[in-house]
Amino acid sequence: MELPSVKLVYFVFILQYLPEYFHSELFFIMAPRIFITGVSGYIGGQVLHDITAKHPGYQIRGLVRNEKQQEEITSKYPSVQTVVGTLDSTDILVEEAAQAAVVLQLADADHNSSILSLIRGLSQGSKTRTLIQLSGAASVIDVSSGLGKPTPKIWDDITDLHEISNFDHSHGHAVTDQLAVSAGKEHGVRTAIMIPPTVYGRGEGPIKNASMTIPWLVEAIKKRGKGFTIGEGKKHCQCDTYQRCLDRNLVFGRACTGT
Ligand SMILES: NC(=O)c1ccc[n+]([C@@H]2O[C@H](COP(=O)([O-])OP(=O)(O)OC[C@H]3O[C@@H](n4cnc5c(N)ncnc54)[C@H](OP(=O)(O)O)[C@@H]3O)[C@@H](O)[C@H]2O)c1
Repeated sequence: MELPSVKLVYFVFILQYLPEYFHSELFFIMAPRIFITGVSGYIGGQVLHDITAKHPGYQIRGLVRNEKQQEEITSKYPSVQTVVGTLDSTDILVEEAAQAAVVLQLADADHNSSILSLIRGLSQGSKTRTLIQLSGAASVIDVSSGLGKPTPKIWDDITDLHEISNFDHSHGHAVTDQLAVSAGKEHGVRTAIMIPPTVYGRGEGPIKNASMTIPWLVEAIKKRGKGFTIGEGKKHCQCDTYQRCLDRNLVFGRACTGT
């Protein structure tokens, strides 16, 4: 497995309109309504945990695949409402997004049709609304110098924003990231793309508590019976605790709801 050479790419934050808009708007006299996909997952579950703890006034709705997940979530978070469906449930996504101030798409970094459904729903409101899409730093993986060899580039999410936003489609997640931004512009929906590297730490969400990436490494080590390096082992990648990743979600969410 080859990891990206990343120092500063925690996320790319792409907003089409200025946040000051929110603060002047009597946009949400009611508690802001947030729709979250992936609430049964590691990152989505932690976001759910943190938002309900820090913002008990928010109306949270989450997408789950089945009634078992529904029960597990509502038993731990009674204030959270869930809807059963998948990222392919177009009507559900459009309807949920149409009612939401902010949508956090935390289920899948590469699911294009759901992006379009969510943006279509968000665009139906009379006010400008926001989609936050969870992407991943696979977009900056670079093995051009060989496996296990360092690459000179250290990505910066401000100075390299133009390049990161315009990767050719051979870069992981680039198609979906760019689709979200372009569809958002077309339909008057703000979009933010978060691009974390490997996220780690024991999660506190209702169902999954381990990051999808760490078990892959653990399994490989177990299979081999010892640790390993790839090639010269000189490639490096910044990892992120879930707290830092989640704090950003909360900061963005607050900015978007003006709270
Ligand atoms: N973890 C990391 O280190 C990391 C780093 C950067 C980016 N990311 C990206 O962030 C996203 C979430 O990561 P994660 O670690 O939280 O993964 P995860 O624990 O597998 O969570 C994803 C959740 O979304 C749900 N989901 C996935 N596809 C769905 C669909 N088509 N319809 C309905 N629900 C669906 C899954 O439900 P089920 O459990 O029922 O399948 C799962 O609970 C991924 O796209 C990943 O590539 C992760």
